[in-house]
Amino acid sequence: MLRIDYANCLTERVGEHGVGADALAGAGGALRELIEDLNRSRGTGWERWRTLPFDPVRSQHVGAVRDLVRTLGPTTDNLVVLGIGGSALGNIALHSALRPANWNLFPHETRGGPRLFVLDNVDPVFTGGVLDEVRRDDPDLSRTVFNVISKSGETAETASGFMIIRSMLAEARGGDAARHIVAITDPRQGTMREICDKAGYATLPVPDGVGGRFSVLSPVGLFSAAMCGIDIDALLDGAAEMDTRCSETDPSRNPAAILAWLLVELDRRGKHNHVMMPYANALYSMADWFRQLWAESLGKRVDLAGREVFTGPTPINAMGATDQHSQIQLYREGPNDKVICFVVVESFDRDIDIPAGTGAESLQYLEGSTLGQLLAAEKRATEYALVESQRPNFTITMPRLDAFHVGQFIQLWEITTAAAGRLLNIDAYDQPAVETGKVATFGLMGRPGYEQWKVKVDGRLGGREYVV
Ligand code: PA5
Repeated sequence: MLRIDYANCLTERVGEHGVGADALAGAGGALRELIEDLNRSRGTGWERWRTLPFDPVRSQHVGAVRDLVRTLGPTTDNLVVLGIGGSALGNIALHSALRPANWNLFPHETRGGPRLFVLDNVDPVFTGGVLDEVRRDDPDLSRTVFNVISKSGETAETASGFMIIRSMLAEARGGDAARHIVAITDPRQGTMREICDKAGYATLPVPDGVGGRFSVLSPVGLFSAAMCGIDIDALLDGAAEMDTRCSETDPSRNPAAILAWLLVELDRRGKHNHVMMPYANALYSMADWFRQLWAESLGKRVDLAGREVFTGPTPINAMGATDQHSQIQLYREGPNDKVICFVVVESFDRDIDIPAGTGAESLQYLEGSTLGQLLAAEKRATEYALVESQRPNFTITMPRLDAFHVGQFIQLWEITTAAAGRLLNIDAYDQPAVETGKVATFGLMGRPGYEQWKVKVDGRLGGREYVV
């Protein structure tokens, strides 16, 4: 079970920069109403993502994913995911958290799943580099599967990547090309759906009521995870367990309600930067996933009544101990406008002894310790240093880094985001600012029907240049 220690967010530890325990207790009634509201909307509208870890939805998804993994797994050495934002960050996060570092460098025979590449940008050098490597390893693409993920099926980055690999496959595999594509998209509508239906690609759904950034526990995240041997049932078990815990109407026993309240309250008191700092390399991409969830869900111009509020904390990712030597100077002595979420793993799967023998007296204190002990000490020391400077922070402890606890972590933050959206009185499920960029790109790239966007862009960015 994940544990959250928020003592360092309270006034008794960080003075006026924290929140009073009495204020939290005083919010009990409002928080109870908030939880009841979340429980009522659970499984409806854009909150259908909450049903992903439970039957019948869960069995349908896991069954369909496992069928495909059984068919494709034994003959696949390279799995290339094409997606962006919510259609890629969860895949990367699951893989980094739950597969060994340097997975792609292991020999095919011993790895236990295909190499995974995620093309989540249209940078031609990056894309070309990945595709070159896949072709070097598998020139005729007979042992490669491309997993195209796009809920809308319209996103230019994913669509262009798809067009490139489709043509590559047609050339390399001819009539067999379709067998090398798995598309994850809207089950009923959209450009991608139409293409899949025509071409006969295997497909999995991005279910209704599940937006991109809330989709990691749907086939969007499950397929690539299962292909690489991650225990998706344990992942969903963890999420289900956390969901039940976060439905508890007593706020003091509901971690999502406490976290959302604390973070929104701290934001209101000027702590506008929310840093997630795992002390585990494997969880760094999870902080990246959180960054999108928090930013896209909570960064909004208007509230639910249409009033301009320009709200939303800025999420930042950092990693301990590495960023102690990069960011902590700022976090301790710079503006007191942050709250730091440490994420620690209580028991690592391995540890490494620090041997004696240098003869240096000043290094003797390290002899006989382990790297795990040193990392834990570094985190505690940093926590102490922040509290000394009255910088609010809290710690999420994962007993072990495994699929069950990662599932808990994901569901916790998704429910916390939904709760924070309610507290900020904004729509956590839209992304109008992202859409503007998408349609302006269509205009600039000459898509019929979007010409006015090119005119708008050129009008706004044209005129006199100021260049040095
Ligand atoms: O969270 C979101 O909704 C976005 O980040 C989308 O996932 C992203 O824009 C990609 O969209 P799509 O899956 O429709 O290609």
